[in-house]
Parts: sequence; structure tokens; C-alpha cells
Amino acid sequence: MKLLGTGSALPRHCVTNDDLATFLDTNDEWISTRTGIRQRRVLTDETLQSLAERAARGAMENAGVTGEEIDFVLVSTVQAETLSPALACDIQAALGIKCMGIDINGGCTGFIAALSVAQGLIASGQARLILVVSAEALSRFADWTDRSTCVLFGDAAGAAVVGEGDGVEDIRFTGEPRRDVLCASTPPGNSPFAINPAPAQYLKMQGQEVYKFAVSHSFRDIRDMLADHDLQPENVDFYLLHQANMRILEAVRTRLKVEPERFPHNIERTGNTSSATIPVLLDELNRSGALKPGCRLILNAFGAGLCTGTALVTW
Ligand code: UT7
Repeated sequence: MKLLGTGSALPRHCVTNDDLATFLDTNDEWISTRTGIRQRRVLTDETLQSLAERAARGAMENAGVTGEEIDFVLVSTVQAETLSPALACDIQAALGIKCMGIDINGGCTGFIAALSVAQGLIASGQARLILVVSAEALSRFADWTDRSTCVLFGDAAGAAVVGEGDGVEDIRFTGEPRRDVLCASTPPGNSPFAINPAPAQYLKMQGQEVYKFAVSHSFRDIRDMLADHDLQPENVDFYLLHQANMRILEAVRTRLKVEPERFPHNIERTGNTSSATIPVLLDELNRSGALKPGCRLILNAFGAGLCTGTALVTW
């Protein structure tokens, strides 16, 4: 499988750290020094579906493919606007696509999980050209009264068109079941048979636990991927890590002993947009002209589960 084109979309509305300080006991200094985040985009009157469509259209134009050529749509999302049909089906009409579409919830690792599913579909001959979209609206289930979590998140969509080729060299995942450290729930429904249904819960997170997991696991996964492919850290042009905290990126980068230029970031502008962070960053790099043919990339994400995903890609 190889990546043929990328796209991304952010909501119009920008929320700065100072904006948050008008209704939370927080300030720009705490948020920017602890996380690197200065602003994030959040949905107001736009829909997640419209963001997903914009990102997908960008990726299809960038890849030079039409809707008729796409034969599978995979969307990674923690929660779409409708449970059924999947967002992957809902975005098809606007893009002239008619094929099977499914949503995948891999938490923040969702884009790499969707790439892996796409690789399997292509390898087995079930699809030739696949649209992969990561679309996330964490503003909808963050607790906007909890300063320790809501300041971290933003909304975004990123997309890629993938097809047959040999650009994606390796994809791997790990998991450690730890529901307690990062969890959000959907409404319990109204079944008359449910006994003591748990109420819906906004996103809850033990930040330091996730932080420690992220630094240790990202470094380990990247180190192992490099070693298994006989690569040194400097043989990789760009490390595209899940944008959760600038301090996490810096901790992994310094352990790998590579220059800051190899660790692009946009967290200062977008916040943590779950599975959308990597494809949005990838699209920004692509459109800036930084990705030359043959460029070697490592994608690495961690998140709810807890789980991690790492991909070695040649552009
Ligand atoms: O996508 C994957 C999911 N998420 C992550 O990867 C997040 C990983 N974790 C992190 O990025 C960091 O742990 C956080 C940014 C969430 C927190 O940073 P920290 O350096 O671990 O801070 P902390 O939780 O230890 O809190 C330090 C202090 C506390 O006050 P006390 O107890 O020392 O008096 C907090 O109450 O900072 C306080 N605090 C805040 N102060 C101002 C927490 N949030 C805020 C805030 N503004 N927004």
C-alpha cells in the first residue's frame, strides 16, 4: 500500500488560551508551558460531517482520484454525529462515492489503525483505492468545567487516499488494557430492562498516567521499529507523533537524539484532536512541499485503550 494524497480541515472558530481563562480557573502561561497549546479550533455551527467531507475532498484532489474510483471508505472517529449509518457512509454522497464504508474507533491511534485495515483490504484484493478519514469532535464530550482536560482538546479532520504500492513498509500496534486512565461513555439509552444503568460520563483522564505511558511506549515502539529495519534515528526524515503534548514530543525526540526539524508539530495551533492529529500534520507537511519522494516517515500514536500504533512509511 502507498499514500497517494492527503487533505485536512479545521473548524472556523478559534479558541485561545485567554478565551478559556474567561470561564475556567486557568491561564495562558500554564497551558502553553505544560502542553505547548496556544489555541485550538472547535465546532460551532459546522458539523463533523462537513469537516470530514472537506478533508476527504482535499485528499482526493491531491491524489488526483474521483469518487467513482474509490472502492472503500474507512473513517476513524471516537464518536460520529450518527451511530448509524457510519460517518464513512454519510460523507459519500457529497463526494460522488458509492461503496462500503465503516467507522473505526481506535482512539487517538485510529488513523494508524485505519491504515492497517486499508492495507489488509488492498492486500486481500477486496479494494484498490481507499479513502481514509480521521474526523474527531472532542469538544462534544470534553467536560468544559474540568480545566485539567478540556484545555487540551480541539476538533479536526484529516484524510488520505491510499492504493496499491510499497510505501507503507510496516505497521504495528501494542495494547495494555487500562480503562481507568482515559475514558468517556455514551448515554445509557432507555431500555426498560437495564438494571442501574451507568449515566453518561464526559471524558475523564489521569493525565500523568497517560503522559508516562506515552513517553515510554512511543520511544520504545519507535526504537524497535528502527532496529528491526536496520535504521538509525537520523535515517528517518520526519517523525509524525500524535499531538497530545509538546513535552511528550520533546521527551521522545531527545531520547532518540534527533534534531527538532525532524519532529514537526502543530499542537500549538490545533490542540489534541485525537486520531486527526497525524493526518492533519501529514497534510500540512505535504502541502508545504516538505515531503519529497523517498522521504522516510514514522507515524506514532498512543491513546485510549490504552494502545499504541507505529507505521514506517516511504513517501
Ligand atoms: O491523546 C492522549 C490523551 N492525553 C494525553 O496524552 C495527555 C497526557 N498528559 C498530559 O499532557 C499532562 O499530564 C497534562 C497536560 C494533562 C497535565 O500536566 P501535568 O504537568 O501532568 O500537570 P498535573 O496534572 O500534575 O497538574 C499540576 C497542577 C495541579 O495543581 P496542584 O495540585 O499542583 O495544585 C492541577 O490542579 O496544575 C493544575 N492544573 C491547572 N492549572 C491551571 C491542571 N490543569 C490546569 C489548568 N490550568 N488548565
